[in-house]
Amino acid sequence: MSYLLVKGGAPLCGEVRIHGAKNSVLPILAASVLAADVCAISNCPHLRDVDVAVRILRHLGCIVSFSDDTLTVDSRTMHRCDVPDALMREMRSSVIFLGAILARMGEVQMSCPGGCELGPRPIDLHIGALETLGAQFAERGGALHCTARQLRAGEVFLATPSVGATENSMIAACACDGETVISNAAREPEIVDLAHFLRAMGADVCGAGTSTVTVRGRCPLHGCTHRVISDRIVASTYLCAAGAAGGQVRLSAVDYRAVSTVAAALAEAGCRLESDGDAVQLTRRGELRAIRPVHTAPYPGFPTDAQAILMASLLKSRGTSVFVENIFENRYRHVDELARMGADIRTAGRVAVVCGVRRLQAAPVRCTDLRGGAALVIAALTAEGESRIECIEHIDRGYADIARDMRCLGGCVERVET
Ligand code: UD1
Repeated sequence: MSYLLVKGGAPLCGEVRIHGAKNSVLPILAASVLAADVCAISNCPHLRDVDVAVRILRHLGCIVSFSDDTLTVDSRTMHRCDVPDALMREMRSSVIFLGAILARMGEVQMSCPGGCELGPRPIDLHIGALETLGAQFAERGGALHCTARQLRAGEVFLATPSVGATENSMIAACACDGETVISNAAREPEIVDLAHFLRAMGADVCGAGTSTVTVRGRCPLHGCTHRVISDRIVASTYLCAAGAAGGQVRLSAVDYRAVSTVAAALAEAGCRLESDGDAVQLTRRGELRAIRPVHTAPYPGFPTDAQAILMASLLKSRGTSVFVENIFENRYRHVDELARMGADIRTAGRVAVVCGVRRLQAAPVRCTDLRGGAALVIAALTAEGESRIECIEHIDRGYADIARDMRCLGGCVERVET
């Protein structure tokens, strides 16, 4: 299996361009089947999760091609309505295909996503929302079978603002007769990007980015071109890396508003952040200090996806920082690996307490999940000696080439293919 070798100790200095957002591309690829036409999606990152989505589209009968960073999906030839179990297991967010296949084919069959590395990830909100829109679900031997002879508009109320359930509702609502109102909708920038894509296909969607999204369904849809927004979590990762290692880095293709909570935490820790146009620059010369408690929350709160990476950047800060993980259970699996490098972190349920240490030393470590893996890279950049990071297939799900990007920023990170 491939691994990363990271030599720590040097400050970072350099510039990198941030690639397109994984969490935008996935729902957009799913939604592309609504057009029954050709959609060209640019700024599409080459990621393992994107590869899984492409394999699902091909299984459904779509013709998909990748040229540079543009994915072209021709869904005129789509003829299947099932997602194979192997692909569901490879990517839990395959559930995002539920609303799209249902809207296009009137029927879907997929296995139930069970537990995963972040604790149980239920899909009750997805099912409830689609039932409101006229879908009927049956479970047979671990497989979900969903049908809807005619989807109808409805009032969807989400008990929590789930990103995936908001996206599935928006996509399915495009095929409903009448006006669907989604209340307590997620407000993430990726929801806004999905709405832009749906509108480019001819859909009538309003309110994305607020808690109430309205979709007037059954507009005639057609193929389109769309450019995906940049990945705010990748940008946050590189900001946290530079905050941890010190130095000065500049990231281009970044929407500063989308990274502002992470930027504010790094500023509180002693970093200087400046944004101009679509670029952000981080400078850190002195010592890092501990920050006020960080509570993860739905957007515009502090993103759960940035919890591990910010934690990694504060391991050598002066003082004690507290994290409260409110979105996912079991999202502290990276903590034991960080401890192998000498980090002082105690966890109890949803709370983690980080006491800054003077030194970290290199260690062989294993990625436990996507962002936990990126946190190990950050910690290794600040540790003395060379760390070997294994199980990097987790990192490949969300970073097109973290070793190359870190080298652009002056980090000593090599990928070894075995
Ligand atoms: C998306 C992101 C993921 C991010 C998460 C939270 C994608 C592909 N993934 O995941 O990177 O960490 O948002 O920002 O966009 N829940 C239920 N029932 C449901 C659905 C969700 O109880 O049917 C709960 C979840 O267990 C979790 C919370 O709602 O506690 C938020 O999850 P959700 O927003 O749905 O996350 P995802 O869409 O899976």
